[in-house]
Amino acid sequence: EKGTYTHYMLKEIDEQPFVIRNILQKYQDDHNEIKLSDDIRSALNSADRLYIIAAGTSYHAGLVGKEIMEKAAGKPVEVHIASEFLYNQPLLSQNPLFIFISQSGETADSRGVLVNVKEAGHPALTITNVPGSTLSREADFTLHTYAGPEIAVASTKAYTAQMAVLSILAMDGAHARGIDTDFDAIHELSIAANAMEVLCDQKDNMEQIARDYLLESRNAFFIGRSFDYHVVQEGALKLKEISYIQAEGFAGGELKHGTIALIEEGTPVIALATQENVNLNIRGNLQEVVARGANPCVVSMEGSHRDTDQVVLPPVHSYLAPLVSVVPLQLISYYAALHRGCDVDKPRNLAKSVTVE
Ligand code: M6R
Repeated sequence: EKGTYTHYMLKEIDEQPFVIRNILQKYQDDHNEIKLSDDIRSALNSADRLYIIAAGTSYHAGLVGKEIMEKAAGKPVEVHIASEFLYNQPLLSQNPLFIFISQSGETADSRGVLVNVKEAGHPALTITNVPGSTLSREADFTLHTYAGPEIAVASTKAYTAQMAVLSILAMDGAHARGIDTDFDAIHELSIAANAMEVLCDQKDNMEQIARDYLLESRNAFFIGRSFDYHVVQEGALKLKEISYIQAEGFAGGELKHGTIALIEEGTPVIALATQENVNLNIRGNLQEVVARGANPCVVSMEGSHRDTDQVVLPPVHSYLAPLVSVVPLQLISYYAALHRGCDVDKPRNLAKSVTVE
């Protein structure tokens, strides 16, 4: 139930720190070791390449999951849009493991791929918020995201839960392969959960940003690099699906290759600058758009922030910055949709689960 909340979406955004803490509990045993069945562990470790298949927001979580898995565990990962993979399958490795990421577990495009994968005899793992769903039943293994029911059409807590589970898998994979990683997913996730809470408490700031940047705009650009690039794609999807503002997430370095032509006086450009190693680069991209009249809004992280930045995240591990930086983007989208008079929880033309191809 919504309780005192006006919309499920806002309630579900607020639940995110608790969801992460819940996942931490569910995925740890009494000795604070990662709890994973032997079958799943061996499927993950014997695969020479992981193929993540998903749609929409779950696809965006997969993009972040790939980065963490490759960087922490040295395991090659490909991420594919289910509807593309279905009719245009790439070459596969010798021993692939397919990972389906789906909040509902009912997405028809993903199911189509799963059917083919099973026919070809490849192992499949589903990461879902609904165990017992079609994708969960038909895969060999299931991992639960424990986010609780997600009612709003715009996915929020399922996304952060998916990334949390993927980060735990990455750390487990690193241990299994004897890789000496400094990434302690358990410790870092609990820091991230606290940081998410700090941002959930900054609703007035996010509402003001929505008013200042998005109430009169027909379009909005989101830019980021590295991990931030994946999160801006999710930020843009959130904004467009509930506020109907045309929004796109771009890689900062790609602007000069075409997109910058679209920048006009007053165009809102929301930049994520949480990644230390590309901080100067994204700041440079911001200067380029500001010189062409853009209205910049910067979400950065303590340590490499500037006094003029609109939102500053508490410091968290760079791999988990997406869990935290998406919170202001979700809230800004929420308030933009709200003040533009849109039906936040039930946007036009959309269904919560897309069970037809
Ligand atoms: O249930 P799933 O995670 O498989 O759904 C995939 C997409 O349909 C879903 O993420 C969609 O993009 C959301 N409306 C995004 O907020």
